[in-house]
Amino acid sequence: MVLYVTKKGSKYYPSKAMKEQAWVNNPNIYKEADKNPVKFWSNLAKEGINWDKLWGEKNTYVEKLPYFWWFKGGKLNFSVNALDRHLGNPNKIALKWIPENPKEKPTELTYSELHKKVCQFANVLKSFGVKKGDAVSIYLPLIPEAAIAMLACTRIGAIHSVVFSAFAPDALKTRIQDCEAKVLITADGYFRRGELVDLLTKAKKALKGTKIKKVIVANRIKKKKYSGKFVSFDKVIEEQSPFCEPEMMNSEDPMFILYTSGTTGKPKGVIHDTGGYAVQSYWTTKWVFDLHPEETMWCTADIGWITGHTYAVYGPLLNGATTLIYEGTPDYPNMGRWWKIIDDNKVNVFYTAPTAIRMFIKEGDKWVKKHKMPSLKVLGTVGEPIDEKAWKWYFSKIGKNRCPIIDTWWQTETGGTIINVLPGIGPFVPTIAGKSFPGTRHLIVDHKGNKKNQGFLAQKSPFTPGMLHGVWKNHKKYADTYWKAFKKYYDTSDGAIMKGNLIKITGRTDDVMKVSGHRLSTAELENAINKYKKVNESAVVPIPDKIRGQVPVAFVVLKKTKNDKGMEGKIKKHVDNTLGPTARPHKVYFVNDLPKTRSGKIMRRILKNLLANEEPKGLMTLVNPGCVDEIKEIIKA
Ligand code: PRX
Repeated sequence: MVLYVTKKGSKYYPSKAMKEQAWVNNPNIYKEADKNPVKFWSNLAKEGINWDKLWGEKNTYVEKLPYFWWFKGGKLNFSVNALDRHLGNPNKIALKWIPENPKEKPTELTYSELHKKVCQFANVLKSFGVKKGDAVSIYLPLIPEAAIAMLACTRIGAIHSVVFSAFAPDALKTRIQDCEAKVLITADGYFRRGELVDLLTKAKKALKGTKIKKVIVANRIKKKKYSGKFVSFDKVIEEQSPFCEPEMMNSEDPMFILYTSGTTGKPKGVIHDTGGYAVQSYWTTKWVFDLHPEETMWCTADIGWITGHTYAVYGPLLNGATTLIYEGTPDYPNMGRWWKIIDDNKVNVFYTAPTAIRMFIKEGDKWVKKHKMPSLKVLGTVGEPIDEKAWKWYFSKIGKNRCPIIDTWWQTETGGTIINVLPGIGPFVPTIAGKSFPGTRHLIVDHKGNKKNQGFLAQKSPFTPGMLHGVWKNHKKYADTYWKAFKKYYDTSDGAIMKGNLIKITGRTDDVMKVSGHRLSTAELENAINKYKKVNESAVVPIPDKIRGQVPVAFVVLKKTKNDKGMEGKIKKHVDNTLGPTARPHKVYFVNDLPKTRSGKIMRRILKNLLANEEPKGLMTLVNPGCVDEIKEIIKA
């Protein structure tokens, strides 16, 4: 088995074997790129992506804050870059799909087969009236149709909006309404932990009040005839021709919207453009994971999240490699499933989240011992800070002390990872994300924007090519969320510490929590709880959780009603039905009042203190300090 790392003191570095095969192994790259990041990205863009028309050199980067554009005037089609240009090797596997039931046969799609299906499906979308610039909603589990649908949108320049399949109908509805999609792509169901999830019924519930005219239903469970606005994916696709002329897009045309949680109750539609996103996805996948075309990458994220977009679908395909996606849960039929998938499919690059690793640690080493996983070369982590225990377990039990762990920091907004360590350079240090990716610049500042060693993580101009291009139909939200705090720096809303020349991420500094790596806003959850008819108001705060990182706890003031015993369960169920089970509160406390300032602002900090058994400060500013002792008693009881 190849050894990819060597230890020096408490740090790990790439071994000779790793350095020899890595795309990048010269640390000078950081300095070189930083001399002129615009020039650096311009070269990468030309080398990594096929353009139909190049941009004028002075338009490589145009900045007029809070907006900025990359490769302005350049033209390309994303699907051509992900598929057509690899057709010289048509029988190479592009996508491997592993169904949850181990008895069911995996699906393999070669580049040529995937290209054909994408073209056919693009023609389907066209036949339903979808045009360049139209939004298409996708509500699909991790099945090949998800990648086909996404790529088909990019073929014709439609803007996809993927909604996580575990989200509830209400969450789907608000997202469909916001982007005004007329076509929805969903499935008749999927399997999770051996159970059939009826996705179509959930999708149907979301349609009322939207402009959806066609619902294309992927036939995951069975082939079935549909009627009215519903059509079968398999049927409509086979009627179409296997080629679809790609729509040439401007680099700065939107490619997709992805809704994410912020500090207000309504999710924001983060917009990503075509050219900048393509360039950053291609290069970060290649360099950060050291992915080579003959290799297989498995990113365990769902396509409903940005990680699934960039590293389960787009990045590996842009690189002409094989991407593996798995439908089910990590523990089905047993806790060894993931490791068996890695062994069976000779996965080279494996990318997951700390929450999953902590879950495996809890189960003991028995399941991983059976699997040697000699194909593994690079391990990645994302979504939340990884603690030392999880890092070491991942390193020794999965990587067998051979593989670097790449701690990749990024956000829905950044499109791809931009703080990390390159496998051929190192060092790989537990709990530390690393350096700004070549050609990107981050700094740590205090609340006034002055440079510090510890504080808020911000990004400096030139802002990276994959960065968001605004918030869908909401300029104010975009300007206020990302550009108000530091004006000329992008505000990440994360805290960080400088450790030597490496960046350690400390976590969110706003009212956003990370539950099992999923982003959830306290305001969104409060909004949902407040909609329950018997609730007067509520406050949600996160508490630490050994496996999930954080979990939400709700404090609820009921309307004048009897607090019957089942109320906690009813509120949890209500959250399941409106947002989805990821957001379900871990505990609901019923209180008579919430601590508030004179202006009516709920002091969540005080609730956090009380849950952590700490003495809260600043009670003087409260209009109702008496409620604090009362809440303390309720928590204790
Ligand atoms: O707090 C940071 C955390 O995840 C947030 C972004 O969440 P989301 O938009 O859902 O995207 C997650 C996947 C890219 C960040 O603001 N985060 C992400 N990666 C890391 C991280 N925190 C620490 N270390 C990381 N590697």
